[in-house]
Amino acid sequence: MSILIKNGHVVTAAEDFVADVYVEGEKVVAVGKNLPYKAEREIDATGKLVFPGGIDPHVHLDMPFMGTFSSDDYETGTRAAMFGGTTTVIDFILQTQGDSLHNALKTWQEKSQKAIGDYSYHMAVTDFNDQTAKEVVQLIKEEGITSFKTFMAYKGALMIDDGQMVQLMKIVKEHGGLVTVHATNGDMIDSLIAKNKALGNRAPLYHYLSQPEVTEAEASARFTDMLHYTGCPGYIVHLTCEGALNAVRRATLRNQNVFVETCIQYLVLDASLYEQDFNGAKWVMSPPLREKKDQAALWAGLNQNLVNVVATDHCPFTWEQKQMGKDDFSKIPNGHPAIEHRVELLFSEGVVKGKISLPKFVEVISTNPAKIFGMYPHKGTIAPGGDADIVIFDPNKKHTISAKTHNMRTDYSGYEGWEVTGKTETVLLRGQVAIENGQCHLKPGHGKFIKRKPN
Ligand code: URP
Ligand code: ZN
Ligand code: ZN
Repeated sequence: MSILIKNGHVVTAAEDFVADVYVEGEKVVAVGKNLPYKAEREIDATGKLVFPGGIDPHVHLDMPFMGTFSSDDYETGTRAAMFGGTTTVIDFILQTQGDSLHNALKTWQEKSQKAIGDYSYHMAVTDFNDQTAKEVVQLIKEEGITSFKTFMAYKGALMIDDGQMVQLMKIVKEHGGLVTVHATNGDMIDSLIAKNKALGNRAPLYHYLSQPEVTEAEASARFTDMLHYTGCPGYIVHLTCEGALNAVRRATLRNQNVFVETCIQYLVLDASLYEQDFNGAKWVMSPPLREKKDQAALWAGLNQNLVNVVATDHCPFTWEQKQMGKDDFSKIPNGHPAIEHRVELLFSEGVVKGKISLPKFVEVISTNPAKIFGMYPHKGTIAPGGDADIVIFDPNKKHTISAKTHNMRTDYSGYEGWEVTGKTETVLLRGQVAIENGQCHLKPGHGKFIKRKPN
């Protein structure tokens, strides 16, 4: 199949210009003005933005967590992502403590059979030992899994200690991979949770109060110190606050380059949402939402190239699942649904409101995730030879976010009633029309696993 996208406002991380894009099979063949190709299908993109498919490098699909499973699976999650302009996701495989990385990989390979959009995996190492070390090397060399997630919190389930972290960094560095981290001080948080529960403080607000900024700033500094000591490349996921960002800023003073991801919710929502009854459970996630001054630091960090990626940490639960913590904030499954709205919210709150430029928008939703995680230039840009993962986006269309109309498998939205400007209209995934006229045309199983390259 060949497709000619005519006269769109093409945006890459480097520039934006009016041009045609010609696609043949799965690939982009040419980008330029008045292209001379005759295609089987022509799409008029006059007045529309044309940018590379979004890459969300932080999602949790069908993940066992806190006594339940995140409510979107690979089918519903990748479909919802595509409706919002995200064509590739990177999900987290969780090693079960005491078990092998390969067993975990097999479980996730099963889960992802029904993916509609493209996907890759980070491997979460929750139990590092000699056997794990060998498996890490195999995963990088043979499976194309090059990023290894660590948790400095969730003790007893996912957390590793600093000794394990340093050993993991050494082996990952040697083989060209990357260590990513949930950087919060698990011991401090656990003691604050215990203290609040002992005082009878059971509401969602105490989830927030049990994870103060210092718990994230301290762990982020410790992580960057360990990276400095080992020389391993590192990436901090879901960074939320000024204190943690300043830890990264300090690391740059000794010429370190630490990649930073924030998530859309930390840019646009704040902790005042916890000052209500159990309804605040909708935003119980870790780390929690922060203050307005932290939002300001994150927006500035994007323009200072300190924050490289805007992801979602999509970890949805239904309202019924959230009731698990009705009488105890520490039992509320942590996470919120966002995979569908990242691109549109960032455009509306960032580009339309003049906080970031159009190329910066594309850089942080697509190009940087592709570069950092070894998918560039096949993904993350629109250029000859690359995958034709393309979003055609109406920059003026206003619409309202609601659980009644979203495609994620959960019955509430953290953004209910928000009016946003800009809508994903048509999406191509590897040259096939995936989304058009509000319909998804691809079937479960269409999504392809993306093997990634080590550095
Ligand atoms: O609240 C969150 N973030 N849930 C998902 C697990 C994690 O820490 O990323
Ligand atoms: Zn996390
Ligand atoms: Zn996460």
